[in-house]
This record gives sequence, structure tokens and C-alpha cells, in this order.
Amino acid sequence: MKATVDKDSCIGCGVCVQICDAVFEMDGDVARAKVEPVPAEAEAACREAAEACPVEAISIAE
Ligand code: F3S
Repeated sequence: MKATVDKDSCIGCGVCVQICDAVFEMDGDVARAKVEPVPAEAEAACREAAEACPVEAISIAE
């Protein structure tokens, strides 16, 4: 599984980092996925973060 943050959509709210800091981190004003693939134990939180993003900037690829 791979997570991608669309930097053009991200508004830097940081919710994804709060929910899943195993995968997401802030990179300046926007978030980025710092690991690929997403570790198995972080997949559930990663999906939760994607759903919680207010601007749907996170894509998940299986
Ligand atoms: Fe950006 Fe969404 Fe995360 S706005 S900081 S990708 S929750």
C-alpha cells in the first residue's frame, strides 16, 4: 500500500500527522508521506488519516 499527498490540495492542517505519524510528516506548509510502502501495522491509521483529511489530499494505492 502506498500513500501520496497532493501538495497542491493540502492546506497543512496536520490532521494526517496527528492520526498517523508513522506515515505522514509536515514538510514546510504541507504534509508528505515519509515511508513507502506503508508498514502493515500503520495501514489502518493511514486509511483513517486519508478519510479525515478535510480536502481529500491523500490518495491511497493498494
Ligand atoms: Fe494536508 Fe490533509 Fe494532512 S490538508 S496536512 S494532507 S490532513
